[in-house]
Amino acid sequence: MSVSSRGAASPARDDIPLERIDVSDPRLYQDDTWQPLFARLRREDPVHFCPESPYGPYWSITRYADIMDVELNHAVFSSAQDLGGIQIAELARPGEFASFIRMDPPEHSARRRTVAPIVGPGNLAKMEATIRQRTAAVLDGLPRGETFDWVERVSIELTTMMLATLFDFPWDDRRKLTYWSDVATANVKAPDAPIRSEDERYAEFGRMAACFAELWNQRVNAAPSFDLISMLAHGEETRHMTPQEFVGTLSLLIVGGNDTTRNTMTGGLLALHENPAEWRKLRDHPALVPSLVAETIRYQTPVIHMRRTAREDAVVGGKRIRKGDKVVMWYVSGNRDDSAIENADSFIVDRARPRQHLSYGAGVHRCVGDRLADLQLRILWEEILRRGLAIEVVGPPTRIYSNFLRGFRALPVRLGN
Ligand code: HEM
Repeated sequence: MSVSSRGAASPARDDIPLERIDVSDPRLYQDDTWQPLFARLRREDPVHFCPESPYGPYWSITRYADIMDVELNHAVFSSAQDLGGIQIAELARPGEFASFIRMDPPEHSARRRTVAPIVGPGNLAKMEATIRQRTAAVLDGLPRGETFDWVERVSIELTTMMLATLFDFPWDDRRKLTYWSDVATANVKAPDAPIRSEDERYAEFGRMAACFAELWNQRVNAAPSFDLISMLAHGEETRHMTPQEFVGTLSLLIVGGNDTTRNTMTGGLLALHENPAEWRKLRDHPALVPSLVAETIRYQTPVIHMRRTAREDAVVGGKRIRKGDKVVMWYVSGNRDDSAIENADSFIVDRARPRQHLSYGAGVHRCVGDRLADLQLRILWEEILRRGLAIEVVGPPTRIYSNFLRGFRALPVRLGN
């Protein structure tokens, strides 16, 4: 059966007047039909103003080079929550969701420094054997000859295990972490959202906060250990965090460490399925795995956008942006920009410069967990190849309704013998 998930077949959308283009509609990402709209913006109006949207007026930055300019200019383009934060959608209760991704230097820098070592090279080297052993167990436990959901059995299982390891979270309760991650990122208007209102979301955060407060109390009174909660509880810069900031930081790590990597595990399989010649290349040359991982992260682009707010008037790509304007960097578009990446719409496992992409952002907020994500993905594909697993995608993916995270609800697969 031939299964394709591409949006390439959708209309070119050249008929829509430029000023009416609004790329914030989550359905574009759920249906995977965003590509032609962004291709047109990159071509005709790469720094584009949308005067009216469900999120108010906003600028779209769609080319690779312009996104870099905004990323690297954090003095002008702010991530601060009091100006609006990092998503095109405003938070319902901004005060209850403080974390360092929503701060500018200098507040941002000290907090980031406390968290960074846990996902730094030294600790990752110590974690590699555990990750490999858990990945192997998950793959060896997969059913043969019957259809199952790759998202549920592999992507969610592996990333949840990783989070439980990072937090030293009670093992049998680890699926709570997945649930909280889904709650944190859910669009309450999506038909299959796990929560239906902001009240439900914050009630669930209350339960998460209580659970983490208990772990914090245990760890703050014990000798420092190398898990994230202990590091936050003992860290010079973080031990006096407010409860809101503590919960905000944990949910940042839960979402950062979970959904993104999870969706890349699924996106990689789908991309290989849709590009069988690339899969053959990989099987013939397993040394290409690190390159496959980078290419998958680019091609999937798990974080669709990041938003900034202009602290002062500025010019980007020749357009004048005013103080207070909302500026959205569409990574999905920058990663498909042919003027920066050759054949950007193609999935190619042996690219010359596979790490040249925007999926991890850039500048002071560049993803702090990038090496951990790379490691988990590398091990997954090494273990799949080592076992010679013939994984067949047997139905179309179900994608999530979101303009922030590009992800999957389900992907039916079957293992050959
Ligand atoms: C493929 C997987 C991942 C992708 C695509 C991804 C993507 C991103 C992006 C786009 C940003 C914002 C960058 C910017 O604003 O310039 C970010 C920040 C962040 N990510 Fe990731 N991420 C991934 C995995 C992880 C993992 C595994 C963790 C942690 C365990 C993590 C933790 C964070 C944190 C804490 C930040 C905030 C950094 C800061 O504000 O200084 N991420 N990530």
